[in-house]
Amino acid sequence: MEIVKLESPAEVARRASVIVADSVSEKPDLVLGLATGKSVIGLYRELARMCERRKIDFSRVQTFNLDEYADLSPTSRMSLRSFMDENFFNLVNVKKSNIHFLRGDCRDSSDECGRYEKEIKDLGGIDLQILGIGRNGHIGFNEPGSKLKSRTRRVRLSLSTRHDNGTRFGYALTMGVGTIMSARRIVLAALGGRKAEIVGKVIDGRTGSGVPASFLRRHRRFL
Ligand code: GLP
Repeated sequence: MEIVKLESPAEVARRASVIVADSVSEKPDLVLGLATGKSVIGLYRELARMCERRKIDFSRVQTFNLDEYADLSPTSRMSLRSFMDENFFNLVNVKKSNIHFLRGDCRDSSDECGRYEKEIKDLGGIDLQILGIGRNGHIGFNEPGSKLKSRTRRVRLSLSTRHDNGTRFGYALTMGVGTIMSARRIVLAALGGRKAEIVGKVIDGRTGSGVPASFLRRHRRFL
């Protein structure tokens, strides 16, 4: 685990964007795991700026988002897919066919989650996973109680997450902790004083399901 404390959200965005850009230039068909939330918006803006100046090329990059609200159409303004379209996909040259997303409005969530795991595997696994963190230590929507070996599945959201995210949705589909841990490299961005307590627990609290993000300490390339 490597911990970097930076002075401003702009520096976090810049630092993370350099990691993404270097990874794409090393491997143009990078498999990139993406997150939603305020902590990553700056990163996406920075990447969009770099793309406009042709400093990064997403044309061969494959993306997999962590999660989506259950029972919700991707075209809904409240979907995480809409968040990504607005804040990232519409601003860079990623191919629509290379964007992979869980369908909240699928008929059978276990088939849908199985499909997602298979797509990740068929593309060789996630090379670089971008993460935010919930105040209760969730990653993706792996709420406290999520197991280290968990894979992509339907989950119930905690009240604190629903409150923090300002959402009325009670369920979501999310990559599992195990799915996230299988990524070759992980970069987690946590912004603001509200995250300080949980970040402290991730860094030197007990590792376990009580704080799912604490499992990341066992990853060999986690920043
Ligand atoms: C949502 C996402 C998480 C993200 C979290 C943090 O709950 N499912 O993947 O880490 O938001 O959001 P923010 O950065 O807005 O605090």
